[in-house]
Amino acid sequence: ASQVSVFLTEYAVDLLYAFANCSGLDLIFGLNALLRTSENTWDSTNAELLLKYCESREYVMSWELGNEPNSYEKKAGIRVDGYQLGQDFVHLHQILQQSAVYNSTGLYGPDVSQPRDHRRDLLTGFLETGAKAITACTWHHYYVNGRDTSLEDFLDPEVLDTLATKINEIVESASPGKKVWLGETSSAYGGGAVGLSDTFVAGFMWLDKLGLTAKLGLDVVIRQVLIGSGTYHLVDDNLDPLPDYWLSLLYKRLVGPEVLKAEVNMNSGPKKPIRVYLHCTNRKSTHYRPGAVTLFALNLNKNEVTVILPDHMANSTTEAFVLQSAEAGEQSLYSRSVKLNGQVLRMVDDRTLPLLKGRELPPGEHIKLPGFSFAFYVLIEAQAAVWYEYR
Ligand SMILES: *[C@@H]1O[C@H](CO)[C@@H](O)[C@H](O)[C@H]1NC(C)=O
Ligand SMILES: *[C@@H]1O[C@H](CO)[C@@H](O)[C@H](O)[C@H]1NC(C)=O
Ligand SMILES: *[C@@H]1O[C@H](CO)[C@@H](O)[C@H](O)[C@H]1NC(C)=O
Repeated sequence: ASQVSVFLTEYAVDLLYAFANCSGLDLIFGLNALLRTSENTWDSTNAELLLKYCESREYVMSWELGNEPNSYEKKAGIRVDGYQLGQDFVHLHQILQQSAVYNSTGLYGPDVSQPRDHRRDLLTGFLETGAKAITACTWHHYYVNGRDTSLEDFLDPEVLDTLATKINEIVESASPGKKVWLGETSSAYGGGAVGLSDTFVAGFMWLDKLGLTAKLGLDVVIRQVLIGSGTYHLVDDNLDPLPDYWLSLLYKRLVGPEVLKAEVNMNSGPKKPIRVYLHCTNRKSTHYRPGAVTLFALNLNKNEVTVILPDHMANSTTEAFVLQSAEAGEQSLYSRSVKLNGQVLRMVDDRTLPLLKGRELPPGEHIKLPGFSFAFYVLIEAQAAVWYEYR
């Protein structure tokens, strides 16, 4: 057998850091957990070299150790149980604490796949020894297998509901108050589903995931993937945004972290294909006054629905941002383009995003959510009583 060594140069680290810093992204670096000693404990020698270098450059970043430890045996022939992995994290935490630059940095893990069967044991073992070392407990979520899925799955409320696992309870009982994050997530595993994960229909899974995770109390959702690798990317190889990019951009602009209660009461027809979430409007959007709320809604059905707001909100001026496929007809859900309030979204030039303008609805006018669409509605004068400060 041949051996392949892959080197990460200082220059590559500089490029990576510069990219994150220029883009206003936070960088979390995943260290290699499969470098093991003869006692099968983590060998930190290589990581310490990298840490020293990053420290010398004063790079502000945080850390992970390993990725999907439930697959180490299958993929690398190395067996690491949760208990040992937790101790490896404690070891890394001790190294970080001795660093002047990283002594209060974030450490996230174990990046376990959906915790069922043996993965659940791995997670509980990990938490027993490692919970004290981590800032947040991370897990990975995909709804379906990319090689074996269909358009119907992407629009199926029961598939969307499978995200609500018992993870919060597992973490809460092992380590009360510990934050839970989705450390890696997208629509379909195995590189995404060809013809689905990078098209308009993927937005139903993505927007519902953002709504449901927030409702479940998960603070951070890390999307697989910005560019390259599979078909679940947000930006194509020409650097043109795909539908989920536009959706993410609107979500970031309009939706704040505070979750409010919302539910659907249907006066006719099936209830399940309509899903709604309500948040305070992003306070960083200087455009809106305090007290504004953002309702976001998904219509998984072909028929338009009328959304009737409760009385205390119905008179608010509303700005609508309705996203639909840019194409009509049978192929529309497979489109790689998206319309915002009827206008196809495109970059103005290589560097300039178009203005993402809402459409103002007169107060009291009922909201019409078209079939197979999703939308954000900013209720400008909702005067939500609760307005938390950002941390
Ligand atoms: C990151 O970028 C900011 C400006 O955007 C700059 O002031 C800062 O020095 C950069 N940080 C590092 C560590 O390069
Ligand atoms: C981290 O290190 C710096 C520099 O040595 C020190 O000033 C600071 O108090 C340390 N912080 C913690 C949380 O230990
Ligand atoms: C909303 O406006 C209607 C018509 O102007 C008015 O009758 C109603 O009292 C208002 N509702 C609220 C809650 O202010």
